[in-house]
Amino acid sequence: MRYTAIVLAAGKGSRMKSDVQKQYMSLQGKPVLYYSLKAFQDSYVDQIILVAGENECAYCRDEIVAKYDFSKVTAVVPGGRERYHSVYNGICAIQECDYLLIHDGARPFLTREILEHAREELNNYPAAVAAVQSKDTVKIVNEDGIVCSTPDRSRVWNVQTPQCFLFSMIKEAYEKLIHSEKELTKQGVRITDDAMVAELFSESRVKLFEGDYRNIKITTPEDMILAEKYLTRMPVK
Ligand code: CTP
Ligand code: MG
Repeated sequence: MRYTAIVLAAGKGSRMKSDVQKQYMSLQGKPVLYYSLKAFQDSYVDQIILVAGENECAYCRDEIVAKYDFSKVTAVVPGGRERYHSVYNGICAIQECDYLLIHDGARPFLTREILEHAREELNNYPAAVAAVQSKDTVKIVNEDGIVCSTPDRSRVWNVQTPQCFLFSMIKEAYEKLIHSEKELTKQGVRITDDAMVAELFSESRVKLFEGDYRNIKITTPEDMILAEKYLTRMPVK
């Protein structure tokens, strides 16, 4: 079986409010993006497609891929306006592949355990997504912030990446999404992860599997403090 990873690093990182984009910020002397590339480089994945901002592709090739000898990175391609545009650009750069793992470059704590778990689940499901059970109670509110309902917490999961798919299925689903993008926008539907694309544009059932509470997405400044702590106190296995 041929496994490809798309690593996403084409976001603007606006919530971090930093000079350097969060995926390039330094964690223990290496860029945030280094850690997930390293996890895939050391895994069963055959090739990695890195998606970066149009103006940062050359930087990524020279200062990350070449510098750290990430030989599995076969292409560095420019991303798009929304995360799903970036994913689609990555998909278009893939030729031969059976399974696709899509991962946020802003999640440095991808473990071998998560990747093994993903591979097992893909034997049984066309879509498998890392997730953790919500520690907090979740409320659904209306436009005025008034609570409408409280879902049973034991059924509420926070999804992470990698989000993993049968390649032929997710490629077709993404093609359908790109085709009907205008219609969806009109309806006010916001695509915020890859599983949603499978849910909306395929018949595939999406299976969640146990991720890791440490597998955080670096989003705001306090996440960097947490990430530094994780790296020194709980090194990634
Ligand atoms: N991403 C991407 N292309 C986009 C938007 C996001 O490749 N157009 C990537 C980001 O680089 C990140 C991941 O998708 O690795 C998750 O997105 P998010 O955490 O929202 O990152 P940003 O969009 O960069 O941050 P913000 O929303 O705060 O601007
Ligand atoms: Mg974003």
